[in-house]
Amino acid sequence: VLQRFSDRAALRHCVTTWRAAGERVVLVPTMGALHAGHLALIAEARRIGQRAVASIFVNPTQFGPNEDFARYPRDLEADLALLREAGAAAAWTPSVETMYPPGFATRIEVAGLSEGLCGPFRPGHFAGVATVVTKLLNQVCPDVALFGEKDFQQLRVIQQAVSDLDIPVEIRGVPTLREPDGLALSSRNRYLSPEERAVAPKLHAVLSDIAAASRNGTGVAGRIAAGRAALEVAGFRVQYLTVCDARTLAPVERVDGPARVLAAAFLGRTRLIDNLAV
Ligand code: PAJ
Repeated sequence: VLQRFSDRAALRHCVTTWRAAGERVVLVPTMGALHAGHLALIAEARRIGQRAVASIFVNPTQFGPNEDFARYPRDLEADLALLREAGAAAAWTPSVETMYPPGFATRIEVAGLSEGLCGPFRPGHFAGVATVVTKLLNQVCPDVALFGEKDFQQLRVIQQAVSDLDIPVEIRGVPTLREPDGLALSSRNRYLSPEERAVAPKLHAVLSDIAAASRNGTGVAGRIAAGRAALEVAGFRVQYLTVCDARTLAPVERVDGPARVLAAAFLGRTRLIDNLAV
């Protein structure tokens, strides 16, 4: 049975009881509008622990003034039904007032990792993410928290914050779940028109080509330029397309260690991001 909590003390009491009984508690933070990608994280949480807890909170502080906070899809009843079906033990659904009461004054900023890739295009975004995730970890006190590799920069920023702040939790990444045509599942895919949806898998195709070429070590810069041009021709407005060190996220010219190819691009009004291991 899925228990729903909107009160922090009740949630804490419940998780404390579970952990005292030796059960491993695994948190999956989400903003709701749950899809199969989120449910893959819940399935992984159930595989590695006894109690899967999902949080659902559309975090206002990680959206820019011109972003989609107001129109971000919200359907709590559908989300709770999906969590119940997936076998989650609890849903943590705090209100904005619970998370950010009057007088709230603290912000977690992760230098370096937050500054490249999406950073310049979404000022303040990763500080909003790091702050809310730190709060969620302190509220739930899980043994493990899971994050999708789909948001690879977010995963690295959170790993850094948790390490720097000595938060006693293990952060794990989970591989990206994709549509059969390669498009990474995302809550924002529902914004795509049928025409845009038909073009969207091109992003994954270009990333795959660059990953394969970079692996062979030849002509990475040329492949990136060609990939960017192919995306623009297909109708994307590319924000970045780059190969980075998988740990530092610094751009690399030649691949001689773990690396990642990452991209962000608009298709119409919808911003898509994706990445692949090289
Ligand atoms: P949200 O976009 O709802 O995503 C919740 C989690 O699901 C994130 O860890 C994300 O990486 C993961 N996810 C999304 N699509 C996925 C896919 N196709 N395959 C695998 N995992 C996928 O990311 C956020 O919410 C927020 O920034 C949050 C971390 C909750 C902080 O507010």
